[in-house]
Amino acid sequence: MPNRPGTTGGTAASDGPEEQVDTPPNRRTVSWVSPVEAPPPPGERANDYDSFAEAYAAENETSLLNAYYARPAIVDLAGDVAGRWVLDAGCGAGAVAEALCERGAFVVGFDSSAGMLALARQRLGDDVVLEHAELGGPLPFADGGFDDVVASLVLHYLEDWTTALAELRRVLRPGGRLIGSVHHPFVSHMTAPPGTDYFAIRPTSQWWELGGTKHLMTFWDRPLHAITDAFTAAGFRIDVLSEPAPGPGAQERFPEVFAGRASEKFVCFLFFVLTKV
Ligand SMILES: C[S@@+](CC[C@H](N)C(=O)[O-])C[C@H]1O[C@@H](n2cnc3c(N)ncnc32)[C@H](O)[C@@H]1O
Repeated sequence: MPNRPGTTGGTAASDGPEEQVDTPPNRRTVSWVSPVEAPPPPGERANDYDSFAEAYAAENETSLLNAYYARPAIVDLAGDVAGRWVLDAGCGAGAVAEALCERGAFVVGFDSSAGMLALARQRLGDDVVLEHAELGGPLPFADGGFDDVVASLVLHYLEDWTTALAELRRVLRPGGRLIGSVHHPFVSHMTAPPGTDYFAIRPTSQWWELGGTKHLMTFWDRPLHAITDAFTAAGFRIDVLSEPAPGPGAQERFPEVFAGRASEKFVCFLFFVLTKV
């Protein structure tokens, strides 16, 4: 999720007691994110990345939460990918794929948004195979063809992870890794309306104002144990659960976000490395 430079770090999303203290950057404190307070207009389509692909890609390119946090964390967790075949699930405009290519990986990407894929194509050229495909359904890739799968900020669009994780596991070779990130369940809980059941797998909606228009976004929040249980039930071993610090240059680029904070660290997303067993 992108973050507009210079606008995070202090705007509480509600008057809840947790948010009177040092509200960290997160997806509910970004200026162009607002709560859905009334029922959306009938027929309003959620998560329609095609309708704001360029504006989203521009935010993702430079934001604290993507460029200085989520992306460096994923690349760091992936480590030495030189010569490895990597599938980028929900590749968006291709920024993660590009970083992995620069480190010597052979990358294949897919996304459910044709608009995002068109931007990825412009960025990555013809050397990277890009497919229009939906995580949550059958994927158009052979069994065991990838050393790694990267799923950066995409699983939380799905209510049920069973098919998605089974398919990502199927396309990995034995011992292959699934490296990814999702909304951190504690942040989801801390910023939820009072009375929200932490233990439920529950939809949460927001408006994203990008490119001058408001877009309805719906995610599926879930408790920590539902995340880890889904991974192990799908046949993965959990090697790493990570709450990383932002990457190099974040404090210099966003001094107002970090001013007066006790730590350069904040929680926003939960990162993981899993191995196919
Ligand atoms: C928050 S963006 C993240 C993009 C990129 N992975 C990154 O970390 O910069 C989410 C991306 O996931 C894609 N997406 C959402 N649901 C999807 C699904 N079920 N299957 C494939 N792609 C999906 C969206 O189109 C969008 O490009």
